Amino acid sequence: METVPVNVRNALAVVVASVIVYSVIKFLRVSVWQPLRLRRIMAKQGVSGPPFRFVRGQFVEMWKFTESFPDALPIDDFANLTPTVTPQNALYYPKYGKIYLYWWGTITRLAVRDPKIVKELMVSNHESLTRLQSESQFLAEVVGKGLLTQVGEKWASERRTLGPFFHQKSLEGMVGAIMEGAATELQKWEQEVEERGGTAELDVEPDLHKISGRIISRTAFGDEFEIGEQIFKFQTLLSQELLKGFRSTAYWLVPGYRNLPTKRNRSMNLYGSQVDALVRGIINARREAVQKGVTSSYGDDLLGRMLTAATEGWSANTKEFNQLAVFNNCKLFYFAGQDTVANAIGFMILMLALYPEWQDRCRQEVTEILGDEQDWRASDISRLKVVGMVFNETLRIFPPASTLTRVAAKDLQLEGLFIPKGMAIEFSLAAMHQDKDYWGDDVGKFNPERFVNGAASACTHPQAFSPFGLGPKFCIGNNFAVMEAKIVLAMMLRRFQLVLSPNYKHHPTSIMVQSPKFGLPIILKALKIT
Ligand code: HEM
Ligand SMILES: *[C@@H]1O[C@H](CO)[C@@H](O)[C@H](O)[C@H]1NC(C)=O
Ligand SMILES: *[C@@H]1O[C@H](CO)[C@@H](O)[C@H](O)[C@H]1NC(C)=O
Repeated sequence: METVPVNVRNALAVVVASVIVYSVIKFLRVSVWQPLRLRRIMAKQGVSGPPFRFVRGQFVEMWKFTESFPDALPIDDFANLTPTVTPQNALYYPKYGKIYLYWWGTITRLAVRDPKIVKELMVSNHESLTRLQSESQFLAEVVGKGLLTQVGEKWASERRTLGPFFHQKSLEGMVGAIMEGAATELQKWEQEVEERGGTAELDVEPDLHKISGRIISRTAFGDEFEIGEQIFKFQTLLSQELLKGFRSTAYWLVPGYRNLPTKRNRSMNLYGSQVDALVRGIINARREAVQKGVTSSYGDDLLGRMLTAATEGWSANTKEFNQLAVFNNCKLFYFAGQDTVANAIGFMILMLALYPEWQDRCRQEVTEILGDEQDWRASDISRLKVVGMVFNETLRIFPPASTLTRVAAKDLQLEGLFIPKGMAIEFSLAAMHQDKDYWGDDVGKFNPERFVNGAASACTHPQAFSPFGLGPKFCIGNNFAVMEAKIVLAMMLRRFQLVLSPNYKHHPTSIMVQSPKFGLPIILKALKIT
């Protein structure tokens, strides 16, 4: 056996030692020096929080706290700081006030629930905020690097390309497709109710996902529902695995752990490549139809618009909206378009089942304004005011996105608050929505009446109600989502009386968006359609 010369061995040892020393220094910088520096800067300004804990931060404490609650929670106070959704609010806000510091693993997070500061950041200083690298990675792995994770010029250009699909004029043409998207599941419900003599109990949650999945498939992607369902399934599995990863110590402690070919990593890669293959399939099918002359244009649904915008940039990466942008935004819209709306509609059904007087008022309004289903028009849908008030009150209490996060890309001097570069900022939408200071003493009550004169006069600060985010990056699908929710709900109200099942266990939770942990069993009673 040949022996390695001594001088080579020594050189190797030096290299290895330097790499180790470098990794350790880098690790300590990120996990000790940086958090303590940020803490010191905030402490000088009177901002405090729970104690700094090496590497895992408040993660374990928050996780254990969430797990400490029984399956069925009381459902009488909606200003309870959502302990099972955003445990940090329930744990730290009462102790440390409206703005506090805590650690999400090694990441130092400034939690903000003051709408004035939120506005100052998201509206006036939005150009100085970017996404956390870890969050971008998380989102990018599940939903791709589309609009949601983009910043700067790239974001602005994509937003311009995608915007027209969501304009009022374009929405007007979608009423029929939305209704067709809901019809399959509603017919199934009707049949089941009929077979059981007029009343049936159903967990509506899975079907609500199918409904919103069908609707986004039909309106945005030309009705590739089965493929869309597969895509969504793999995206969900992927996000669950990623979240499990966050909860393991090795994830935070071992540098480069996330790139090791662990079992979890392998199954994530598998799910990810399934999503990619399915999305590619949809895109290629549409492109081939045009190339072979089956259709003359890409069409004016979302996919068609994206393909039209990207045609010239298909093989080159030079054009702003290129092949990759189409691919990433397809992944994003499949995800963004269904989980959020499905859960918003779900919680709205829950509220209407709990408050039958509001259910009656909504049903009456639907009958008066909309009439026969074949005549429904977008302009009439937007006149559904009571339904709109109930929807807003539901989004106030159960915002699908309970927090938004950003990171300061540079030092930010706000009015009375300095935020150093590198600080992660958490905007607590749910907490602002539950703050007595902006909503008054009945903040914990379900009271859609507060929206009778619109959102601006429902609370004392316009930004205290921000279920769709705020600033230039607010939800692009906002109007689409509201119209979809109103239509689906109106169709249900015409067919059924909604009654809450005694089997319902109230336990809001959050994976990517807020959802009822144990499903949503509802008793449906047939109504005669008038
Ligand atoms: C009730 C339903 C919905 C809620 C509560 C909701 C909420 C939000 C929120 C809070 C944001 C801002 C995220 C941030 O600033 O970090 C957002 C962004 C976004 N939403 Fe929605 N959303 C809903 C429905 C939809 C639908 C139906 C679509 C698409 C069809 C959609 C597509 C998007 C996209 C593409 C963005 C990124 C916008 C950008 O960064 O410019 N959303 N949404
Ligand atoms: C899994 O590990 C490989 C390297 O072995 C890496 O390229 C990949 O990004 C990792 N996958 C995930 C999902 O983290
Ligand atoms: C509901 O809130 C939105 C803001 O998200 C507002 O534009 C709309 O007018 C509100 N609708 C009602 C009926 O309050």
